[in-house]
Amino acid sequence: MCVEAAWDRAGIRGAPRITLPLPGCQLLSPAPCFFRSRGSCVTYGREGSANQRKEEEKRRRFWEEAWQKGNIGFHKEEVHRYLRRHYIRLAVATGETVFVPLCGKSRDLLWLAEEEAAVCGVELSTLAVDAFFAENALEAARQSYGPFESWRSGTLQILLGDLFALVPADLAEVRAVYDRASLVAFPPDMRRRYADHLAVLLPSGCRILLVSYTYEQSELAGPPFSVPPAEVEELFGDAFTIELLEEEDALSDHPTLRARGLTALTESARLLVRR
Ligand SMILES: C[S@@+](CC[C@H](N)C(=O)[O-])C[C@H]1O[C@@H](n2cnc3c(N)ncnc32)[C@H](O)[C@@H]1O
Repeated sequence: MCVEAAWDRAGIRGAPRITLPLPGCQLLSPAPCFFRSRGSCVTYGREGSANQRKEEEKRRRFWEEAWQKGNIGFHKEEVHRYLRRHYIRLAVATGETVFVPLCGKSRDLLWLAEEEAAVCGVELSTLAVDAFFAENALEAARQSYGPFESWRSGTLQILLGDLFALVPADLAEVRAVYDRASLVAFPPDMRRRYADHLAVLLPSGCRILLVSYTYEQSELAGPPFSVPPAEVEELFGDAFTIELLEEEDALSDHPTLRARGLTALTESARLLVRR
């Protein structure tokens, strides 16, 4: 889908595309908050039909419950091998911002910070964000930021809230995105929304390292969901160039999925570049 169509889908065709000049600041000065409340993007990602709001509430409860019950088989103690191998392809210079959607309490955030990137994650669950800072003995400065609460330690920041509430000005300075287990966390209809949302949010030239899974969907009720190559192409092909970097059999890395009945799983890394 082209970006105009994505904006149209989001109900903001014709709305000014706001890029805030924030010298020396990648994200989250109070300025965007002010702008959020005045700008014509304000409705984007925040309002929706009653049905949409009900769905969102259901999703929120699903993830909160997963964190409360400790159903977080997706969380890995080690840094993802694809991030280590392919980070260079994101071409992030020191101090440039990497955005990590649906970040959980991933250790990959720390690794990115150690690579001297500024890191901005977004995560729905308070438990997850709290655990990230506590488990890594990081003190977080907390402040509200529009519909989010920003938790920050140095150049590492997590926005507590819904990814779909982000507006383009929030990510205007983002250089790259690291998506591991984010696209695949969404059911089919939400994947379309997610891809369109990224297309609207991300500036031209922005790179995404996309780590996703393919498996026989009938063997397992997601999440994680299987997202075959043709669907990646369908979701992102209009707005991004797509390059397959690597794929391998990865069932042994996912014992919880094997225990749930999965017999084969391919994990892929792709580089997407916003046209
Ligand atoms: C499958 S986990 C992936 C976590 C992380 N990427 C990792 O590699 O460990 C998905 C995470 O996204 C969060 N989440 C789900 N929907 C979200 C949304 N709309 N906005 C922000 N976070 C969301 C969930 O709470 C959960 O922690």
